[in-house]
Parts: sequence; C-alpha cells; structure tokens
Amino acid sequence: MSDFIHRFWSDYVAMLSLLSIVACVLLLWLTARKRVASDADNTTGHVWDEDLREANNPLPLWWVGLFVLTIVFGLGYLAVFPGLGSFKGQSGWSSRGEYEADVAKATQALAPVYAKYEAMPVEEIARDPQARAIGERLFMNNCAQCHGSDARGSKGFPNLTDKDWLHGGTPEKIVETITKGRIGVMPPMAAAVGTPDDVKNVANYALSLAGEPHDSLRAGLGKSKFTACAACHGIGGVGNQALGAPNLSDKIWLHGYGEAAIVQIINNGKHNEMPGQEGRLTDAQIRMLASYVWGFSNTAAATP
Ligand code: HEC
Ligand code: HEC
Repeated sequence: MSDFIHRFWSDYVAMLSLLSIVACVLLLWLTARKRVASDADNTTGHVWDEDLREANNPLPLWWVGLFVLTIVFGLGYLAVFPGLGSFKGQSGWSSRGEYEADVAKATQALAPVYAKYEAMPVEEIARDPQARAIGERLFMNNCAQCHGSDARGSKGFPNLTDKDWLHGGTPEKIVETITKGRIGVMPPMAAAVGTPDDVKNVANYALSLAGEPHDSLRAGLGKSKFTACAACHGIGGVGNQALGAPNLSDKIWLHGYGEAAIVQIINNGKHNEMPGQEGRLTDAQIRMLASYVWGFSNTAAATP
C-alpha cells in the first residue's frame, strides 16, 4: 500500500498521534497549575438544584495517576507496535506476519492428515470418503465462488462435473490447471473472417456443428470461412485442449449460444482466466482438490 501513497500521509498520521498525546500532557499540566479563584469556604460559587455547590478541590491523585499511566502506555505502545505512520515499531509485529504464522502453524498441524494421501494416486483419493470431505471443504472455500457450490459453473465459469474439458480432464491436467491457473484467449476474428455477413455465416456454421438451430443457407456459406477457426478449434470444431479452445460440436456452451452470442465472440474475442493456486494452497491441498474435481466426472471410479 505504502508504495502508492505519498509519504506525507504517513507523517501526517504520525504527527496527529503524537500531537494528541502532547495535548493530553499539556491539559494535565495546565489544570494542575491554574488556580481557580474560590470563596472562603473553598467553593467556586456555582450552585445547582438550589443547594448543590461546586467545591474547588484538586483532582484525586488516583485519577491523575491513571491519566499519566495512559499517556505512558500510549507512548510505550507506539514505540513497540506499528502505530506511527509507516514506523514499524520495535517488536516488528504486523497483522500480515501474524496471519502468515497462523497459516504456517495450521499447515504443520494438518501435515499428518495429508501425509496419508501423499503416496496415493488421485483415483484412489477420489474414492476415500475422508479425502472427499476435505476436498469438499477446500472447494467451498476456494473455488465455489466461481464454479458454484455444486461445481456446475455458470456463464464464463466452466462446469466441472461434465466430461467436457477445456484444458484436459486427466488427474495430471487438473492438478496443472489448479496449480498454474489457465488463460483462455480467443483473439477478435472478424477481420480474418471478412464482412459482417461472413461473420454471421460462420457463426451459423458453428451452430450447425453442434446440431443447434441455425440458418442452413448461411451455414453452407460460412463453411469455407471456418478454416480460420479450425486452426484452434480443430476441423469440425472438435476443440483443442492444448490451446484451451472449446469443442464447438457438443452442445455445451461456456459463453452462451445462439447466433448473437457467437457473432459477438467472433467480433470481440474472449479472454477468460482461472487464477493459479500455487502459493495460496499447498501441493497436498491441490492434489486433494484435483481428486475431488476428477471424481465429479468419473463417478463410477470414485464411488467407494
Ligand atoms: C476467480 C474465479 C475462479 C476461481 C476462484 C477458480 N476458478 Fe477454476 N476456472 C475459472 C475460469 C474462468 C476457468 C476457465 C478458464 C478458461 O476459460 O480457459 C476455470 C477453469 C477451471 C478448470 C479447467 C476446466 C476445464 O474444462 O478444463 C478447473 C479444473 C478448475 N477451474 C478448477 C478450479 C478449482 C479446483 C478451484 C479452486 C481452487 C478453482 N477452479 C477456482 C475461474 C475460477
Ligand atoms: C487463436 C485460437 C482461436 C481461434 C483462431 C478461434 N478461436 Fe474461438 N475460442 C478460442 C478459445 C481459447 C476459446 C475459449 C475462451 C475461454 O477460455 O473462455 C474460444 C471460444 C470460442 C467460442 C465460445 C465457446 C463456448 O463454449 O461458449 C466460440 C463460439 C468460438 N470460440 C468460435 C470461434 C469461431 C467461429 C472462430 C473462427 C471465426 C474462432 N472461434 C476462432 C480460440 C480460438
């Protein structure tokens, strides 16, 4: 954060903190020095509720003592902990450091639980009920926000329970996807295809490949233009997992189907990203998740 904010603000906050402590000391000193003129009976002359008189006694010693203690405590705290702008404090404590220590501790505590699965092949982990329970919890905390709590995905976020894979569905490929993340990029293709009419034609050809409703006259005209697409999506639109290019010939659409949706993708291209979990999750956790995800589309093998 401090990379982006001018140093002025850090100094400003430090000044404010110190000034308010100095103000407290001044207040204490001034009230101790200043004598309030009082009457002979040691009252200030202020009367409330007819007979309640304000006496002019010094502050009780215990109260002044507490006040001084809080000031000393405040200065001590600011010396030890990070409270003065960007000054890190003598102890070096930080909330991030505490969080990282907690994570390291939890990882260590969980190591024996994961150790059991280290040598186990993914197929076998997928069958283990305890491992599936761990996988489910990891999935809910780290993946469900994008892929849905049932892993069926939504527009733009792939369904992980079907057998249709953008990047490959073997255990190794799934581990790779989760560890490194994936970027699916389709460049805008309108220029390569031709006129807006050509774009419509090729979109209809793509729809025909999947047997979706389409204009067959346009599809026929678009067929020859599909060579520009086949470089990635393959001849017949069967897809290419090495490029993350989806199979266009099944009826599974990641970004919606219909002429309008496909024309839009051809014109604008598409950039879709799965964030890599390396560094966020341990290798053991990633293997657990990969087994859990693999189990969705290999239900027979994954049944205990
Ligand atoms: C910020 C959203 C987001 C999060 C969080 C996320 N994913 Fe993804 N994931 C995506 C997107 C988007 C894609 C599709 C990438 C593409 O289009 O190539 C994807 C793709 C995948 C794929 C490849 C699917 C295929 O068909 O090849 C797998 C497997 C996967 N995610 C598993 C996970 C797991 C397990 C987690 C939890 C650790 C996770 N994802 C967390 C957005 C997310
Ligand atoms: C450079 C490779 C490349 C070329 C060329 C290419 N695409 Fe794509 N296309 C992709 C990738 C990668 C994706 C997936 C984007 C993502 O991960 O969301 C995609 C996605 C799509 C989708 C969405 C699929 C779905 O399931 O929703 C359609 C439709 C599509 N392309 C049609 C075409 C057509 C038609 C052409 C030719 C005009 C074409 N593409 C050319 C790489 C390519």
